[in-house]
Amino acid sequence: MKKAFPNAAAVLAALLLCGATAWAQTAPAAESAPAPAMPGIQSMNIADVKPDASTEPGYAAQTNGERARVQPGNNAPMWRQVGSGVAGFSSLPKSQAPEAGVLIQPFVQYPGSRVTNAGEAWRQVRNNWIIPYGGSLLLIVLVAIGVFHWRIGPMVAHEVYTGRKVERFTPFERSAHWTNAIAFSILAISGIVMAFGQFFLEPMLGKTLFGWLAYALKNAHNFAGPLFAVSLLVVIITFMRDNLPAKGDLEWFLKGGGLIEGKEIKSGRFNGGEKVTYWGGVFVLGLIAVLTGLFLNHLLPVFDYSRANMQVALMVHAVSNVGMICMFMGHIYMGTLGTKDAYEGMRTGYVDEGWAKAHHELWYDDIKAGRIPAQRANVAPAAAAGKPVQV
Ligand code: HEM
Repeated sequence: MKKAFPNAAAVLAALLLCGATAWAQTAPAAESAPAPAMPGIQSMNIADVKPDASTEPGYAAQTNGERARVQPGNNAPMWRQVGSGVAGFSSLPKSQAPEAGVLIQPFVQYPGSRVTNAGEAWRQVRNNWIIPYGGSLLLIVLVAIGVFHWRIGPMVAHEVYTGRKVERFTPFERSAHWTNAIAFSILAISGIVMAFGQFFLEPMLGKTLFGWLAYALKNAHNFAGPLFAVSLLVVIITFMRDNLPAKGDLEWFLKGGGLIEGKEIKSGRFNGGEKVTYWGGVFVLGLIAVLTGLFLNHLLPVFDYSRANMQVALMVHAVSNVGMICMFMGHIYMGTLGTKDAYEGMRTGYVDEGWAKAHHELWYDDIKAGRIPAQRANVAPAAAAGKPVQV
């Protein structure tokens, strides 16, 4: 930088003045007469403040020079200018560092912040809202899942297992799903450590170890991001057709999936709950997370990577990801402990006929009627499942 700020001389003068003031305040009491109480003035700078200066016409629009004449030592106009996002001179090329000449961003009000400099506004949103409420929401969902499992327990198939297997997921679908799931898990764990680790890990590990861990996970986050982005697109395309709204979805929602009656409502290949996860978690929140994440990594070529845009992207990224992690905690629960043998289907690609009939009866009917091929993958089903297949 050639010259950091046009008012650098004024800043220096202000600092010197503050130093002189501090020195004056530490001088013996006998030398500084106590200032008289002045109504309306909250804090006084130096002895020479004129009590009526703020009532002068044009007071608010004064330059620093004008203010110095009526209130010596009051540098408010200069600091207002510093905090207004005024651009100074910088030798860095504008194309690479468009904001290099701006020391302090202008005033804004982000949702949940006061009207203040953008950096401080962003800090307020993060520290007063995203971290406490986002963290609480994650814990609440975790506890809710635990209570659900404890009081209601897993869904079991109320149909007899026949030993005959039907293909639920092709190898391609499973590869896409697991690539995405692994990338998601790395992102979720590293994201949680970066956002909340200082509250639960740092006290246990100490600052140095926690610092190294956060640094390592930040790098893991950056590498898992693009993997998640690509696999998310594949997952979206692969599972879209069977997640489109279909007959039976409305009844499924109205009856809460059968939770109230204790009998599962008939559904196609994916039920209403899975469709909500797909459209809400995978499609909407997943795409928002990917777009804001790529933006934060400077991987989108067309944008202006200003501080303001980065702040907005970071807030949206954090909020969408808290929502997404909440949804996927539910999904992971339902795919493992919450539905007996569902995990088997995603692991091997095959489920028992009885499982298919119990949980996705309309899909099973379609297979039996030949409307959906029983075997979609191009492999010998018996070899893949290790069991004879007769549907
Ligand atoms: C990390 C641990 C995960 C586990 C253990 C898991 C488990 C499962 C299981 C068992 C199924 C089959 C359910 C059924 O047969 O109906 C499934 C389906 C599915 N999973 Fe996951 N999953 C995980 C993460 C993810 C992630 C991160 C995504 C996407 C961002 C995802 C997207 C899907 C989709 C799209 C389906 C098809 C059903 C639907 O459309 O809702 N999964 N998962």
